[in-house]
Amino acid sequence: MTVSKPANSSVSSEHRLQIKRLLEPTSVISSSTGGDVVKGLTQMPKTLPPRYFYDDRGSELFEQICGLPEYYLTRTETAILQKCASEIAQITGASEIVELGSGSSTKTRILLDAYQQQGLPLHYLPIDVSAGILESSALSLLADYPSLQVYALAGTYELALSQIEPSELPSRMICFIGSTLGNLNSQECDLFLSQVITALQVGEYFLLGVDLQKPKHILEAAYSDRQGVTAAFNLNMLEHLNWRFDGNFDTTQFEHWAFYNETEHQIEMHLKSKCKQSVELGSLKLNVHFEPDETIHTEISRKFNLNTIQQELKAKGLVPQKMWTDENQWFGLLLCKLQA
Ligand code: AVI
Repeated sequence: MTVSKPANSSVSSEHRLQIKRLLEPTSVISSSTGGDVVKGLTQMPKTLPPRYFYDDRGSELFEQICGLPEYYLTRTETAILQKCASEIAQITGASEIVELGSGSSTKTRILLDAYQQQGLPLHYLPIDVSAGILESSALSLLADYPSLQVYALAGTYELALSQIEPSELPSRMICFIGSTLGNLNSQECDLFLSQVITALQVGEYFLLGVDLQKPKHILEAAYSDRQGVTAAFNLNMLEHLNWRFDGNFDTTQFEHWAFYNETEHQIEMHLKSKCKQSVELGSLKLNVHFEPDETIHTEISRKFNLNTIQQELKAKGLVPQKMWTDENQWFGLLLCKLQA
């Protein structure tokens, strides 16, 4: 574990920012060496891990998705947060705010404003795989919040949650907003929640944002937008594999395919091969064959029922204290407290 001094930080903000880079232990199917790509592309049906969406271009495209007219998730959750942030600060009192997958920390400002207005200390612990994004967003927050302390962790959620140190404040709130929980299958979700619980002390908080079940046409429009940004985001995964693993995917020979699976209550995103073709990933020594219409499953995005998710969280000891939603009941924000 290393502590890095951020480049370009001003003298005044330097002592308020710490970034730790967490190192992944080497495992048999290592994601950094492409073991997960080999595994996914040699099984039937083929799959690829959603983490490969997020190279620089993919992160840019995701930012664009968040502003699309069809993609209601970001603006709906932001509006809910604006409505309930001061109540959250009142309930939790002085709490360290831990954010998983913090990215550009845009929604965090709403929470920081509320804590600041109530005269509560501002301690923020963002966790993201990209140390670059952590540094740039932390520097921008430090410039705007003079009393803010940032302790950033660059690494996977799993690693960061296992290495998080006890909060210096009376309490802690782990935030997992943006409905990223929906991108985990139910097994991954159980594992993730057990890691959250381990990182919390009894009496501490978990703030969760979830996208809710709604008519199919609204969901499908959100994942097959008219401008084709989601299609570009999905196809960019192949470009990412090309540069990372010396590959020759021709993205014009694949198409974006997203649909709502009403039985599983989840959007499924795939890349469909337009023809019979073979693709090579040189540095992985992998040759992959595709039949026409054969798919690679790239993502699930689960849509939740508010009562069911509250019961599931409660059964694990994360007891919902308060729940907020929008007028259409399209998105939910839940504040839970860990009980013994
Ligand atoms: C990051 N995650 C919550 C997004 C979602 O809606 O499941 C990822 C995404 N995929 C396509 N559009 C957005």
